[in-house]
Amino acid sequence: MNTADDPTQNHQTATAEQALVLDDVRKVYRMGDGHEVVALDRARLSVGSDEIVALVGPSGSGKTTLCSIAGGILSATSGRVIVGGRDITDYSERQLTAFRQDMVGFVFQSVNLVPFLTARENLLVVDEMGKRTGAAARRRADQLLDELGLGDRARNLPSQLSGGQRQRVAIGRALMNEPELVLFDEPTSALDTQLGEQVMEIIRTEMKSRQTAAIVVTHDERITQYCDRTVHITDGVLEA
Ligand SMILES: Nc1ncnc2c1ncn2[C@@H]1O[C@H](COP(=O)(O)OP(=O)(O)O)[C@@H](O)[C@H]1O
Ligand SMILES: [Mg+2]
Repeated sequence: MNTADDPTQNHQTATAEQALVLDDVRKVYRMGDGHEVVALDRARLSVGSDEIVALVGPSGSGKTTLCSIAGGILSATSGRVIVGGRDITDYSERQLTAFRQDMVGFVFQSVNLVPFLTARENLLVVDEMGKRTGAAARRRADQLLDELGLGDRARNLPSQLSGGQRQRVAIGRALMNEPELVLFDEPTSALDTQLGEQVMEIIRTEMKSRQTAAIVVTHDERITQYCDRTVHITDGVLEA
């Protein structure tokens, strides 16, 4: 496309410093019976390239929907989604797959490690289509596990790790491909308070040392002190 004809071009230039821009994003789920759920409405959000934003709201308020759209898992019903200066709104499935691999990391509440792979192998699977292969990938995985305090756990299976350790493996996996933006969806909610705070400490250290942006979804106001800014969401509507 000729850039002069591309209405997103100016916007992309203007937002290149942002890890994420949601511009008037709406998401409507259509149910089988014709019923519609508006999960996100008129959402405007900018996350700076090294900013950690807490996203706080009750269950069902649209937090996971927002993360899924920002991470290219779900497409918006309307509005534009720009990640690391790239407008992904009209990406094809193939482009989105490559985008997810290159640009974003995900850490979920439920620890979704592959149960029959070791901690180290769980980091390496991410990289199969990734930036590194072979020895370079193994070096990066070992370095990340070391940083996360799991150097001596690299060969353990998830079932041999504690909840906090498993969540740290998930953080390492999310960082494997040097993403622009990491989406943490209730990363501490399955952990007790003290472990949750330890994991948040690690998240903050890792994001700041890499100047990587993050959204951290939480119910817990205590968690927000590890973030630079808090955004509240109620019934699909964001408020700063
Ligand atoms: N796949 C889906 N189909 C239909 N409705 C959904 C779907 N996913 C989420 N919703 C609805 O959208 C709203 C927001 O959900 P969600 O983003 O999961 O909220 P949160 O993560 O804050 O709990 C809720 O009303 C939820 O029931
Ligand atoms: Mg959720």
